[in-house]
Amino acid sequence: MRRPVLAANWKMHKTVAESVAFARDFLPRVKDADAVDVILAPPATALSRLGEELAGSAVGLSAQNVHAAEKGAFTGEVAVGMLADVGCKYAIVGHSERRTLFGETSAQVSEKAAALLAGGLLPIVCVGESLEEREADRTLEVIARQVRESLADVPDERGPDVIVAYEPIWAIGTGRTATPEIAQEVHAALRGNLAERFGDAAERIRIQYGGSVKPDNVADLMAQPDIDGALVGGASLEPESFARIVHFEREGGSQ
Ligand code: PGA
Repeated sequence: MRRPVLAANWKMHKTVAESVAFARDFLPRVKDADAVDVILAPPATALSRLGEELAGSAVGLSAQNVHAAEKGAFTGEVAVGMLADVGCKYAIVGHSERRTLFGETSAQVSEKAAALLAGGLLPIVCVGESLEEREADRTLEVIARQVRESLADVPDERGPDVIVAYEPIWAIGTGRTATPEIAQEVHAALRGNLAERFGDAAERIRIQYGGSVKPDNVADLMAQPDIDGALVGGASLEPESFARIVHFEREGGSQ
């Protein structure tokens, strides 16, 4: 019912040439992946050129961040219209690295998500608890608050256009994946939070899991009823690895 969505978050990796080389290796590997949405999020400098490379393919282009204003005196920032101009269909907002390293707040994330939707792009809104919050048994409360605040400005009828990414901070880049059961527990609660905000439309909202997703654990994660995709950092940097994640149904799970 919900179309799986697999996204590569390259973070601050890859030059323009490296991004083009990735695309040329990767696109033939996923050309038959027509039952899923596939997204590449390169650094801002590679968006334009990678967009040209992806044109004509089913693979979507995503930014890793955006500014909520249309234009103006915001040195170093990029507007929604500028992302659309280079072919972006998506932008990641509120990644935990932006929240913790750059002080981004849920209120800002919410403004960005609304600006993206107004400008014709789809936001990938990230939420996730810290290790300290998990150990204090506050995960579901933290996620509920982040979801409520980060989607506050999203118009009621646009809920299904949002992709939510649940990324426990303790699992990002650490090799420590949440078990499929732990991830499912949070995804199910998160869908309940979305239902409080968007009603029945919450059933159509895709929730990705992120945090040390690899070819060998993706199938078990995707087998969970409320896990609709993956947001992948480290394992998305090599075409072979990310293509295996896109073809998760071919990877053997343990279940
Ligand atoms: P990781 O990163 O796959 O390297 O853990 C995921 C993310 O931060 O989106």
